[in-house]
Amino acid sequence: MTEQSPALDNLLTESRTFPPSEAFSAQANATADFYAEADADREAFWAKQAERLHWETKWSQVLDWTNAPVAKWFVGGKLNVAYNCVDRHVDSGHGDQVAIHWVGEPGDSRDITYAQLKDDVSRAANALESLGLEAGDRVAIQMPMVPEAIVAMLACARIGVLHSVVFGGFSPTALRSRVDDQAARIVITTDGQYRRGKAAPMKANVDEALEGAESVEKVIVVRRTGEEVPITEGRDLWWHELVDGQSAEHAPQAFDSEHPLFILYTSGTTGKPKGILHTSGGYLTQAAYTHHNVFDHKAGEDVYWCTADIGWITGHTYIVYGPLANRTTQVVYEGTPNTPHEGRHWEIVQQHKVSIYYTAPTLIRTFMKWGNEIPQKYDLSSLRVLGSVGEPINPEAWIWYRENIGANSAPIVDTWWQTETGAIMISPLPGVTATKPGSAQKALPGISAKVVDDQGVEVGKGGGGYLVLDKPWPGMLRGIWGDEQRFRETYWSRFADQGYYFAGDGAKYDADGDVWLLGRVDDVMNVSGHRISTTEVESALVSHPTVAEAAVVGATDPTTGQGIVAFVILRGNAVDGGDAAVQELRNHVAKEIGPIAKPRQILVVQELPKTRSGKIMRRLLRDVAENRQVGDVTTLADSSVMDLISSGLKSGK
Ligand code: WT7
Repeated sequence: MTEQSPALDNLLTESRTFPPSEAFSAQANATADFYAEADADREAFWAKQAERLHWETKWSQVLDWTNAPVAKWFVGGKLNVAYNCVDRHVDSGHGDQVAIHWVGEPGDSRDITYAQLKDDVSRAANALESLGLEAGDRVAIQMPMVPEAIVAMLACARIGVLHSVVFGGFSPTALRSRVDDQAARIVITTDGQYRRGKAAPMKANVDEALEGAESVEKVIVVRRTGEEVPITEGRDLWWHELVDGQSAEHAPQAFDSEHPLFILYTSGTTGKPKGILHTSGGYLTQAAYTHHNVFDHKAGEDVYWCTADIGWITGHTYIVYGPLANRTTQVVYEGTPNTPHEGRHWEIVQQHKVSIYYTAPTLIRTFMKWGNEIPQKYDLSSLRVLGSVGEPINPEAWIWYRENIGANSAPIVDTWWQTETGAIMISPLPGVTATKPGSAQKALPGISAKVVDDQGVEVGKGGGGYLVLDKPWPGMLRGIWGDEQRFRETYWSRFADQGYYFAGDGAKYDADGDVWLLGRVDDVMNVSGHRISTTEVESALVSHPTVAEAAVVGATDPTTGQGIVAFVILRGNAVDGGDAAVQELRNHVAKEIGPIAKPRQILVVQELPKTRSGKIMRRLLRDVAENRQVGDVTTLADSSVMDLISSGLKSGK
């Protein structure tokens, strides 16, 4: 496997464990015998979990794996996902329960009950149908964290239309390629979005993206910031004009368990993002099962808060589908964590008595940097379960989280999963597992994961290799939109003989057999828990007229996990490579992909280290980016290149 970063080495020497308290275990949703129950009959176990949902027609077969790697779960079953997330809670007498405590960045707020959510989703579903949308069509959504974004997703689900949410921070170019790839008929957006206390345009971004986009018939605009936006006659519609007047009655139709639910694009090892396809019954089953057990969620009692954005899979599964299917009362916060002050999250926890809080290591490390005294100013005693997701959490951050946020008692669940897996796969179970700082530990009951070597043979305790998923699971992706070949190649070819799903992560077993995730083994970087491929950033760089060649690596970063470091060769007669030129290139990447992809550092070099076959040796560049002694250079076509790079950098050239 590829070499791992030094930060991960100390992570593996961690030996502390934190057993659950008796009091917690006594009330926990999960019990230790789930593992044995699932092992005894995996399909029966999942069938039992699927009973958590309302099925219009029951399935006749739990799993059909005959067309592997495309699974069918709950074959013949029919359900409506939106009905499961909204209406049935109203039907069972919980219409007055708050579904969403929405907190706007500037200080405005809205509490939305399940009854209101049902009306809102029904109106929006009627509106979409009035535009001629039919089951199977695609709608792209680029919106900030406003309630209408969730309503729009559920309205699509209700009528069998696939939504494809594009993160609000993505550039017009990135939005356009996603809209084109899926041939979206409708785009839903807002006039603007609040970011760090200021209103920033959003619709303008969409207008730029959609110039000449042939598939798009209508753009629906939610008013959020109130700023003036240009309206394209015949194409653009205001949400309030289209939706508010619709009937609040909408009969949900049941769709096949395998009816597509959404497409979500994620970065792969090539420049072109992959449209990950998820379907209905299996996905919702695993979303609800994991949310219930991993967070120990109690409907009507807990107040839950997942700090993700709906532009990522975490927002799909743990803000929209899992929590709402489980009748959760949750906080949805629109803004950044330090607006207007660095205690904003803790102020919200105190105000809403949040009991379950799910966030990312990069934010935990940021909180650490801001100082212990900030959370200390607030009453966090309502918190009883803490979650982490997006990248390996280093033990220091884990312990800080436990001590400063969890009062030294709330169990921490470090949850490993991916856009492709749909829902959590590897995680401790609160009340069951004795947790270990830095380890995601064990595949959940019903899930099977292994660490294997190059040949696909499982390694022993203490051994390292690749993480694979060796049995199908209900929330698994059903393909890459429009590219079955790439689906097979990316995930199923590496261990084709064994039929394993290759996750792209390095992993290791410790002496107890617990799993430790070690980061990506492919050319995918993880910046603040977001996946960005090196090739994507390289293509953005070489699209700039001054750049001849570019190589990008992810270098260990104390806050963001990895930071993007680019090495560029400028064209012969191009600018000098001074600060202004570098700044211009950083901005260019932000413009091409989005601010999250802006390189932390760009180094102008004369040469790049290449093998005889022309492959760039990123390992060596990572050594430079992480200020390490440069490793073995013997496979380079020209072994003096690294000296040239190093000396050039030292002399500031
Ligand atoms: C990649 C998936 C799943 C939602 C967020 C990211 C890394 C994710 C963990 C964790 C170690 C983790 C992996 C994975 N990752 N969670 N708890 N420990 N690594 O979803 O964008 O699809 O990225 O994030 O490298 O492959 P994603």
